[in-house]
Amino acid sequence: MLKNRSIISISDLSDEDMNEVFSQADRMLENVNAGKKMNIMSSKILATLFYEPSTRTRLSFESSMQRLGGSVISMADSKTSSTIKGETLADTIRIVESYSDIIVIRHPLEGAALLASRFSSKPVINAGDGSGEHPTQTLIDLYTVRKELGSIDGKTVTIIGDLKYGRTVHSLLSGLSRFDVEVNLVSPENLAIPKHVYNDVLGKLDIHVSTSLDEFLGETDILYVTRIQKERFTDKNEYAKLIGSYKITSKEVQKLKPGSIIMHPLPRVDEISPEVDNTKAAKYFKQAYYGVPIRMALISMIAGD
Ligand code: CP
Repeated sequence: MLKNRSIISISDLSDEDMNEVFSQADRMLENVNAGKKMNIMSSKILATLFYEPSTRTRLSFESSMQRLGGSVISMADSKTSSTIKGETLADTIRIVESYSDIIVIRHPLEGAALLASRFSSKPVINAGDGSGEHPTQTLIDLYTVRKELGSIDGKTVTIIGDLKYGRTVHSLLSGLSRFDVEVNLVSPENLAIPKHVYNDVLGKLDIHVSTSLDEFLGETDILYVTRIQKERFTDKNEYAKLIGSYKITSKEVQKLKPGSIIMHPLPRVDEISPEVDNTKAAKYFKQAYYGVPIRMALISMIAGD
């Protein structure tokens, strides 16, 4: 179903596609947990083109391809590529598609992954385009909820942080809109969800918006925390005013509904206190771990034989 298809937005996947990714990820997870390397992509090459920093996304895509028996070529830093000489994204893609079978791209500009897919005859995966989307992170997020809480339907999800610039939130809201969930959106006023993102899910989700977290903690099943996206601010004074405006500590954890979980796409700066890491609710490192089986599933479904 996903064979040879680009994934630019979470809306590129049907419900059926998503369920297939999750069931393939279960199979991949068994292999990852057992420390077994598979050999189903041995003739294939994955290219990672990262025009923005990354730890989890790039390394988990590369780890996934290697665990599938495939090979990886990587541009981890655009400053060491011919981009610095003025080569356009379109020309870079025309070259990289001839060196690889599937391309993963992260770029600071919204729409860059879509543009890349238009210049590529090989499938392109959006690994984050500016403040736009991060669809594979959403697959990881939804998979984490399924694994840790059994199901997504019927849950209350409270999302706190930088809802304006946070691409993981934009994709997650779209992903959640396929389920029967209640969503609370909490942010400082200046970091509120963009109107177009809100309008896209309005009517599909039961949404409450607030600047205060406290009122939602007791009803929350999933507390999804995000950092303030410093790199998106043109005015660094504006960032300085907002940093530290919310923080999850053991005080907030105690107020959460029993059995609830805390997620974060990471990296974290100071929005979750380290004392939370050892609580039963903290699932953000497990969430990052699930990045490998999810990306193994995607790569094999898109570029496998
Ligand atoms: N979650 C995520 O995208 O992390 P990186 O920026 O480290 O890839």
